[in-house]
Order: sequence, then C-alpha cells, then structure tokens
Amino acid sequence: MSKHTKFTESNALPSTVHLQTALSQPIRQAPQYIHTVQTPIYRASTIIFKDTNALNNRHWSDDYDYSYGTHGTPTTYNLADQIAHIEGAKYCLLAPSGLSAINLVNSALLNTGDEVWIPDNIYSPNHDHLVSLQQKYGVVLKIYSPTDLDSIQFSSQSKLLWIEVAGSITLEFPDLATLIKKAKAQGVMTALDNTWGAGLAFSPFDIYDANKSRDNEKLAVDMSVHALTKYPSGGGDILMGSICTIDKKLHLELLRMHALQGIAVSGDDCAQISRSVSHMALRYQQHHQNTLKLIPFLQSRAEFSQVLHPSIASHAGHQYWKAICQDGLGAGIVSVIFRAEYQVEQIQQFCNTLRLFHLGFSWGGPTSLVMYYDLKAIRKLPTPHLQDGWLVRFCIGLEHADDLIKDIAQALDAFSS
Ligand SMILES: Cc1ncc(COP(=O)(O)O)c(C=O)c1O
Repeated sequence: MSKHTKFTESNALPSTVHLQTALSQPIRQAPQYIHTVQTPIYRASTIIFKDTNALNNRHWSDDYDYSYGTHGTPTTYNLADQIAHIEGAKYCLLAPSGLSAINLVNSALLNTGDEVWIPDNIYSPNHDHLVSLQQKYGVVLKIYSPTDLDSIQFSSQSKLLWIEVAGSITLEFPDLATLIKKAKAQGVMTALDNTWGAGLAFSPFDIYDANKSRDNEKLAVDMSVHALTKYPSGGGDILMGSICTIDKKLHLELLRMHALQGIAVSGDDCAQISRSVSHMALRYQQHHQNTLKLIPFLQSRAEFSQVLHPSIASHAGHQYWKAICQDGLGAGIVSVIFRAEYQVEQIQQFCNTLRLFHLGFSWGGPTSLVMYYDLKAIRKLPTPHLQDGWLVRFCIGLEHADDLIKDIAQALDAFSS
C-alpha cells in the first residue's frame, strides 16, 4: 500500500497522501445546489462539523444542527416532515418501530404513581410494556372499555390516556371526540395509536365533533403515534414508527428522551419509506376498496356469526366512524367470528388452506395476511357486542378483490366438506 494517489484541485487533500489515507477520507461533497426527485440517502453516525464554531454552537433541539447520526440527517428529517404533513402535525420524531415509538411515549411521560388508561382493545404489546412499567416502576395501569367511556374514572394521578381508532383486532370505533374532551377536562395527555387511520382516514389534530360545528372547537390529540411499518412503508419489509405533535414543549420533552435513549433510524430505511409515501394515499384507497368488496361476501357465509368492520351499520361505534372519517375511509382490515361450534383445529385448517392469504402479523403491504385469535384470551373486560367463537383477522392486500373472495370461499368449502 505504498502507492501514492493524485488528487484533483476540487478536493482539499494534499496531493501526495497514501492510497490508504485517500480511501479513508470523504472526497466528493455534494454541490450546494442539486435537486433530485428523491431525497439523497445520508448514512451517518459521525457528522463532520464545518469548524469549531459549528461544533460549539449546535443545539440538540434544532433540526438543522446536524451533529450526530442519532440526532438525524436530511434523509431522516425529510421523512419526519412528510409524516408530520400527512398527519397535520408540526413536529415528528422517528423511532425504529411502531412499538418503540409507543414505548418512547410511555417512558418519556410516565413516572412512579402516574395512572395510564388504555382501551381493552389496545395493540397488546403496548399493554405488555405498561405492565412491565407497572411492575418495575409503580406506574398504575387502568383499562377502559372502548364501547363504554363511563368506564373511565380519572383521578388526580391520571396522566396519560391511550386511544386506538379503530381498536386492534376487533375494530371497535370509539367516540374519539368525547375521549379527547374527557381527558382535556382533567388535564390528562392523550396519545392516539393512529396506525389504522394512517393520517388519511381522519386528521388526528383536527377531529370532527359530531355534536358541534367544526369552527367552534378544534379537537386534537396531544400525540399521534404511527407504525410506519404498515401503510407508509407499504412493502411489508421495513419497520419504523413516528410520534407527531403540534405542541413544541411536548415535542421537546419527547425529543429529550429520544436523544437520551439513543433512538435512531437508518437512512436507507427512511429513504425507502419516503419513496413509498408518495403513493400511500392511492394504496390506502385500494386496500379500503378491496375490503369493502369482501364484506358482503363475508356476511353471506353461514360459517361466520359476525363480521367486524366500522363501515357495517351494526358495528360498535359505526356512527363515530361515519362522523370522523368523513370520506368513508379506513384501513384494509376486516375480522370475522366463526360460529361457536367451530373448534380451533378447524380454524387452523381454514388458515392453512388459504392460498393468497398468508399467516403472519402486521398489515399495510401488498400481500394479504390472516391471523386467528382466541377472543377470550385477549380481552380483559366483558364484550357483550361480540359473539363467542374464534376470531380470524384478514389484512387485505393489493390483490384483486375477486381473487381474495375466491380464496376464502375455497378454504371455507374445503373445511365444510
Ligand atoms: C395498531 C398497531 N400499533 C402499533 C404496532 C407496532 O408496529 P411495529 O410492528 O412497527 O412495531 C402495530 C403492529 O402490528 C399495530 O398493529
């Protein structure tokens, strides 16, 4: 490695450094103006300061003071800006998964003795994380029914209210406006898991209150948490999460914990999601249209005692879905409850016989997914609005709806025969 290398005038290295030195130095810098359709991918742990002034005058809360990979790069901030825009927020933080964004909210805001309220149909790892905070740090966990908001009894210790719209697996649509008003009246912070709505079905910072004129009062959650793993990624291949806010003080509180915990996301992943975000609204529409096409077929099948989707008039909270999701939109998820006489082996056979629906967690990608659940094992409060029996959740992909219907029909026919 004794060979010397020659440098052109455009870089600042001495002209006779060793090859190994040359290969270890950043050589070509981006010109001041280069405009491309996609944001360039910055991969950075170290960010090189221009000079000691830049080093000493940086501030952790300034987006544009690039100082270290965990703080962010233009690639990560580009995605954060896109998500804030979709959600109608002012600020957005990124985390390596939806669950880590949820955990960041919990760990940044909750202290010993604080009460946190969650709906019974919450994304279950959020519940499990709060149980661990309860056991280790004395946070007090309370569970409310998403269909009976009188089950919430705030106390002077109440700090945080989690909301999920529509709820995981069983898709109840809560009275979002009342939940927000109830929390605000007691000075309780609200965190919405907005993965289902994705910022497209309704705006979490401008929520329609069916009882009032829109101009009278702007209802907004304090935080909107989004598993970007689902629709923003859209590929079933990248994990990421976000926390959007409109309040700077709250954003900085979360950002401080984000920095302290060393939470960081990959530039490559951000660039991939940024690229997918441009067609996210079109995909969301298509997932929804496919789901609407499947519903009458599912309702026609005698094997199911109940089909769960907010667009169905008898569904728990249908009226709130109608009021809040004014374009009649929703995620591509529909669940069914098999008649109680069907045993778990039959449900498993059904899942195994499907060809286009694959057994797997998550949603938001092109490929349809299926998962089965024992309702009794996942719910803690009574659920009089749900029939007894095994629940199967279909996450509808971008395949043609007719093919998906045929696939479910063949699996049901095989299992009935
Ligand atoms: C409603 C909801 N919130 C959050 C998450 C967590 O997202 P991630 O898989 O990115 O951790 C999921 C994942 O399935 C989810 O369904």
